[in-house]
Amino acid sequence: MSKKIILSGIQATGKLTLGNYLGAIDNWVKMQEEYECYYMIANLHSLTVRNDPETLKNNTLKIIAIYVAAGLDPERNNIFIQSQVKEHAELGWILNCYTYMGELSRMTQFKDKSAKHADNINAGLFTYPVLMAADILLYQANLVPVGADQMQHLEIARDIAERFNKIYGETFVIPEGYIAKTSSRIMGLQDPTSKMSKSATNLNDVIFLEDEPDIILRKFKKAVTDSENIVKFEPENKPGVSNLMQIYSSCTSKTMEEIEKEFENSGYGNFKAKVAEAVIEKLEPIQKKYKEILNNPEYLEKIYKKGAENARKLASKTLDTVKEKIGIII
Ligand code: TYM
Repeated sequence: MSKKIILSGIQATGKLTLGNYLGAIDNWVKMQEEYECYYMIANLHSLTVRNDPETLKNNTLKIIAIYVAAGLDPERNNIFIQSQVKEHAELGWILNCYTYMGELSRMTQFKDKSAKHADNINAGLFTYPVLMAADILLYQANLVPVGADQMQHLEIARDIAERFNKIYGETFVIPEGYIAKTSSRIMGLQDPTSKMSKSATNLNDVIFLEDEPDIILRKFKKAVTDSENIVKFEPENKPGVSNLMQIYSSCTSKTMEEIEKEFENSGYGNFKAKVAEAVIEKLEPIQKKYKEILNNPEYLEKIYKKGAENARKLASKTLDTVKEKIGIII
């Protein structure tokens, strides 16, 4: 029996965070044996905000290096750059014509981003989820592992696929979302009521994957907690401590009960230092490998070229089927 298919991706805007790693990449690594995997760098999605061209190019390559350094074997996974598989943009256009303004205007990410970038509310920002639907549906993906913030986009991809299938008969596989148990929503260290985000203005709120150990330790030491001095998992009442526990749990595979027990008689100072230690231990080998890979541009190029070549095979097949069904001459 052929393996089930996974597709996921990360935008090439800004530096990757611990949220991206624990909420997405770390789970992908665990899935690479069981599934046929397609992991892309969503550089077309990045255009919805203004980027410096050189930075966008560098970020794209950095994410490929992170994928591999984090443990995605480029021999087993198809790692590619979204823009190099032109079918994404083409199917994106087609699916735009099967998506309603009403459903797009309900997307919370659109609302958030247009509030943040009030001077640049472009049409791409609005149709962003349609391109994401095209990314997923082109590969007939069964499973899409993402953090909780992307679930609404996955829902709309499912709706578009179902709508298309209803009109033209079975065309797209309806994808399922997959969310990690403890790390689907890593929160900010300074504001634990909103998610850790690449675009945070307070740098102490975010652990970047490239942060040096002393910086990681410093940021965790400054993390907002509460005045109780009790390590207990209560996301509603103790968002800061609960977030640190989730991070610790994701890095050590310990359960919340085990963590509560481990820090039963310990103050927050020691707890925060231990969380930092666990994160540093997890990230250090990745950072080392990441630097080596970035210094080898030929290797990077080989990875993304081969990835795009493989991706195109599947993507073009799906796109041809779609075109035939809707009456576009191939
Ligand atoms: P992006 O680039 O914002 O984030 C990449 C992945 O990281 C997850 N993530 C988090 N998980 C837990 N806690 C956090 N604080 C956190 N921050 C980010 C995101 O949920 C995501 O899984 N639109 C997508 C990229 C994309 C995509 C796709 C994903 C484009 N096409 C097709 C899946 C399938 C995005 O902007 O993710």
